[in-house]
Amino acid sequence: MIGAYDKLTAETSLKYRLAYTADLEATFTPVFKLMLDNDASLFRPGDDRVASLFIWHFVEEVEHRSSALIIFDSVVGSDVYRMRVAASVFKHVLDVIRIACAGFNKHVPIEDRKIDALSMFASYRRKQKLLELIPGLQAANSGPMPRAFDDLGLKEQLVALRGIIRSQMPKHNPEHEDLPELAGVWFERFDAGYDVTKWYTAETAAPGVN
Ligand SMILES: [Fe+2]
Repeated sequence: MIGAYDKLTAETSLKYRLAYTADLEATFTPVFKLMLDNDASLFRPGDDRVASLFIWHFVEEVEHRSSALIIFDSVVGSDVYRMRVAASVFKHVLDVIRIACAGFNKHVPIEDRKIDALSMFASYRRKQKLLELIPGLQAANSGPMPRAFDDLGLKEQLVALRGIIRSQMPKHNPEHEDLPELAGVWFERFDAGYDVTKWYTAETAAPGVN
C-alpha cells in the first residue's frame, strides 16, 4: 500500500494528489454516517479495541470533513478538474484496498480473520463462485464471503450512495452534510472523560454517561 502511494507521489502532479484527497475525503461523511448509524451490526460484535479505533477514526474524519476540499479549492480551485480525475482517483483507491485485502488473506490465518478479506469485491465473489462450478478447477478457498452490509437497510445504503455522488459535484460543501448521531455522542463522551478506546466496554468509566 505504501508502495502504491509512493508511486502515485512520484508519477502524478501535486494538483492531482490534492484532488485525490479532496475527492476521497468528500465521500467519507455519507459513507461513515451509514457505518456509524449501523454500529450495532458493524462494530459492536468485533474486538472492542479495534472497533473503538475505527469509530474514533470515522468520527475524526467527519469532524474535519471540509479540510481537503478547502485546501484543494484554495490551491487548485477547479471543480471541473476535480470531477475529471474522480474516476481514476477511485480506481486507485480500490486498487489499494484490494492490496490490503489480499495482504490480510496472505498474512492473517483464517482462524483469526474468519472471512475471505477479498469478499468485499463483488467481482471477486463472482469469480470465486464461477471457479467452484468448473469441474477439476478448485478455487482457492480463503474463507466465507459474507457482505458486511447485508444487515443494513437498502434505503439507507441508497441515501449513502446519493451522498457519495453529491460529494463529487461542483460547489459541494461538506459543512451542510447530515451527520451521524454517534459522532455527537462521541464528542460528549470524550469531553466527559469517558474512555473512548473502549467504546462498548467502558460503560462505567464516566459517571452519568451511558
Ligand atoms: Fe481525513
